[in-house]
Amino acid sequence: MAGTQIAIFDTTLRDGEQSPGCSMNLDEKVRLAHQLESLGVDIIEAGFPIASDGDFAAVAAVARECRNVTVAALCRTSEQDVLKAAAALQGAARPRIHTFVATSDLHLEYKLKKTRAEVIDMTRLAVALARDYAEEVEFSAEDATRSDVDYLCEVLAVAVEAGATIINVPDTVGYTMPAEFSRLVETIRERVVGDRDVQISVHCHNDLGLAVANSLAAVDAGARQVECTINGIGERAGNASLEEIVMAMKVRSDQLPYETSIDTQQIYPTSQLLSEVIGFPVQPNKAIVGRNAFAHEAGIHQHGIISNPLCYEIMTPESVGVPTNRLVLGKHSGRHALVLRYEELGYSPRAEEVEAVYKRFTALADRKKRIYDQDLIALLSAASRGGDSVPNDAASENNWAVVARA
Ligand code: KIV
Ligand code: ZN
Repeated sequence: MAGTQIAIFDTTLRDGEQSPGCSMNLDEKVRLAHQLESLGVDIIEAGFPIASDGDFAAVAAVARECRNVTVAALCRTSEQDVLKAAAALQGAARPRIHTFVATSDLHLEYKLKKTRAEVIDMTRLAVALARDYAEEVEFSAEDATRSDVDYLCEVLAVAVEAGATIINVPDTVGYTMPAEFSRLVETIRERVVGDRDVQISVHCHNDLGLAVANSLAAVDAGARQVECTINGIGERAGNASLEEIVMAMKVRSDQLPYETSIDTQQIYPTSQLLSEVIGFPVQPNKAIVGRNAFAHEAGIHQHGIISNPLCYEIMTPESVGVPTNRLVLGKHSGRHALVLRYEELGYSPRAEEVEAVYKRFTALADRKKRIYDQDLIALLSAASRGGDSVPNDAASENNWAVVARA
């Protein structure tokens, strides 16, 4: 029996990009957006158009280029913000305006300096204005999990009355606990949504390492959209990680009878592309996409894996696009093996790039026993920039390993 469909709202290009060290230029955003489309996300949040001219241009470019996915633009609840988001989305095949305002007393008093009544008015006006420009309007109550529940429900109800089609419940500071969050989503479902055709979304941050657990608890309580990022990048400790949410639903479908439109074999190539673009390595023990996620070193584990991979693997590396028949690249490897490895990593270097990379590769292989994926990515990016740097050995030891599994 098919599970209930959960929409995957990817905010790598907005919330992810907002975190220190993760900024991307327009070309990089468009490249990543195309890969997110191949991954099968339902919505790409491409940026915050009023934040900068660069963000505006990036949202407009992603909206123009990505025709098979909904493209969302973030805005506060001011007229100027909403109009800017609408303008950036003008060329989109499926536009969504995502407007937000904080609802916790803490944010109202110290950040917005607004009364509860003023925030209600701002919500009504912004959502109604957004509906003039987009069929799909998402409203987020920032800091929802630290808001007074009655007031939160009142604001969300106003947003729905004004035309919001999706109401998002952000755990902005990663504060909530799974059971508590589940109760909050149930309350919103009963008191705000009822039998109306309005989708509940959740957006969890990872300050206590609970973003994925909280998102899954919310889905069980009735949320039908989850907001997440590749590699879990995002403000502070990050956002809920897309790959972990999707694979938890897939591997534990007995407990989580849900489906997504994600092509899971595109997970690893997407993770690698993001890591390359932002120059931010993934922690080695990161679930699903870390270099150790499918590595087995202990003799007893290796023996088990060789007899039957199920002994120590709950999903296959192939299912998330991690290449397995890996050739160990060294100084005796030829161009063919090198190109094959790049293809496994999701790259298609041009002939002249292969030549340039191959020269650097052999120089590096003379110095190092093992060449890591991250070395190859760095070599390719240096070659396409025309630079002549080769990765330094110590740094690359901390990165992605090219290791034969057996
Ligand atoms: O964390 C948050 O509250 C946000 C909102 C803008 C959705 O990113
Ligand atoms: Zn956020």
